[in-house]
Amino acid sequence: MKVLVTKKLPGNWISYLSENVEVALWEENYPPPKEWIIDNIRDKDGILITLTERIDKEIIDSAPKLKVISTYSVGFDHIDVEYAKKRGIIITYTPEVLTEATADLIFGLLIAVSRRIVEGDKLIREGKWEISWYPTFMLGSEVYGKTLGLLGMGRIARAVMRRAKGFDMNIIYNSRAPHDVDAKFVDLNTLFSESDFLVIAVDLNTTTYHIVNEEKLKLMKKSSFLINASRGPVIDENALIKALKEGWIRGAALDVFEHEPLPKDSPLISMNNVVLTPHLGSATIETRDKMAEIAVKNLILALRGEKPIYEVR
Ligand code: DGY
Repeated sequence: MKVLVTKKLPGNWISYLSENVEVALWEENYPPPKEWIIDNIRDKDGILITLTERIDKEIIDSAPKLKVISTYSVGFDHIDVEYAKKRGIIITYTPEVLTEATADLIFGLLIAVSRRIVEGDKLIREGKWEISWYPTFMLGSEVYGKTLGLLGMGRIARAVMRRAKGFDMNIIYNSRAPHDVDAKFVDLNTLFSESDFLVIAVDLNTTTYHIVNEEKLKLMKKSSFLINASRGPVIDENALIKALKEGWIRGAALDVFEHEPLPKDSPLISMNNVVLTPHLGSATIETRDKMAEIAVKNLILALRGEKPIYEVR
């Protein structure tokens, strides 16, 4: 069996893979050009990708032997799943292992933006901390006891919810259907209008693309915050920029963007009420290693005709 791997992975997982199949590896951290994938996938039985490689119809068509696409991610919006399935290709992914790491980052972002942690750090580093302490200096917003809105109720939303319970937050959510969870199901407009902190926890698909738009942002409280570590295009970024500039909401904390890396001229960069991180949701040593193990094992199992650990259904 021959496989193509589009990124180096942490740990010894590529060596492990090489003991089982013949591996052709893209050695850089930046994504390979599409032409490289097309040229190299022709004789391959499997491909192991990350979320920066878009696997579309053209790539699938240039891989007549392809049986498995293993993605090193929980999201699979970068794969034309429908077309691959029509071709009988198995798609595997790495959910569950990154849930807690992502929820930690989301909660970190939530606290960072509400308590102005990054702004405070910047102020000191820029030598602008002039007066030691006074009652109205750099006031943030309380997290404890506030209303947390969750858009989505999957694994990551539940993990955020568990953390929020420790902060005695009132939790409301909206998802395709109500779940048996200790939180109140509300309609979409209520979610936007009642949340003090609105956390996006849906995957990107045709129904969630730009679900956070001008109309929805206008429903939010002026004192509220928006937090997103799912996928950038769930939010209409231009609408969010307008909302932040015009004070429709108090702030935002973003780990994902419509275009990544975030363009250097993005207005978000100069906004003090915005916390930005470069798609770090799952970026812990432990989680990234586990993701590598699962992505590699998924690929090997599926190529052998055995049940992979996680298959996209
Ligand atoms: C994923 O796995 O889809 C995440 O975005 C990576 O952090």
